Amino acid sequence: MSPFRVTRTLPEDATDAALRADVLTGLTATPKTLPPKWFYDARGSELFEQITELPEYYPTRAEREILRTRSGEIAAACGARTLVELGSGSSEKTRLLIDALTGLEVYVPVDVSESALTQAGQALVAERPELTVHALIADFTGRLELPATPGPRLLAFLGGTIGNLLPAERAGFLASVRRLLAPGDALLLGTDLVKDEEVLVRAYDDAAGVTAEFNKNVLAVVDRELGADFDPDAFDHVALWDTANEWIEMRLRSRAAQTVKVPALDLAVDFTAGEELRTEVSAKFRRDGVRTELATAGLELANWWTDSQGRFALSLSFAR
Ligand code: AVJ
Repeated sequence: MSPFRVTRTLPEDATDAALRADVLTGLTATPKTLPPKWFYDARGSELFEQITELPEYYPTRAEREILRTRSGEIAAACGARTLVELGSGSSEKTRLLIDALTGLEVYVPVDVSESALTQAGQALVAERPELTVHALIADFTGRLELPATPGPRLLAFLGGTIGNLLPAERAGFLASVRRLLAPGDALLLGTDLVKDEEVLVRAYDDAAGVTAEFNKNVLAVVDRELGADFDPDAFDHVALWDTANEWIEMRLRSRAAQTVKVPALDLAVDFTAGEELRTEVSAKFRRDGVRTELATAGLELANWWTDSQGRFALSLSFAR
């Protein structure tokens, strides 16, 4: 058997259909919204990589610190023979985990980006020839089916990406994660933590303007894919802290009254001057909240590790 295999569970045209549906729903809603998953074309992914290196954007460094210092404990606690990683992207931080999981036989990276999966998977197989890599091209927010692999399984969802889901979506997501696991299997979840408002807002509104460009990139995606005529310069980047919901919101604020055409949807969208389009929610968490949400899904919190500055947490929970 080849040590590297890619399975596509996402039809080639699924992405296009999903984008159309999301744009139609989001741009005709009040207030207007676009889901954050459409940031990540090649340019958006590159901008996100740049964000992770910004002085203001601490989550990536904080999570890497935890993985560097705790991977041994994580490996010992779960003894995984299969590692499933949702939203694996470049799998960069995961290498720390893979290197610590001495009994690991199969790595299943799951991502919508085939290029990221192929690059990361092939590099890994070259270094760890005894490891089988079975990459899945799939949207993990939808129904997911995993290949039959040896247990115990560790399912990793890193980066704090769970914060992009609204509370009800999060509950559904955690329940579907639980269904992928057998009793004794584990979930390793990365969650950014509630902290000082200034620190949070700066992380999403950096001085160099990279996050602003990342935010506006979703307009370029809609322009290219659906023939729309959004002018990214006609919008301002907005990042704000929602105290009640404990989440960061990114928005694009229309500088003037304007009408944007989306030919592929036969749609014209009116913006008033100052009208805001919500492009991302990035929820921040507390230990008790995470423990409760996990428990509701049938997952029992076993370990909670933070970086030395207490900014970000990795939790390990087990399926009951
Ligand atoms: C990749 C979803 C974890 O919410 O912090 C970075 C995306 N948005 N800067 C986050 C993001 C703006 C990021 N996640």
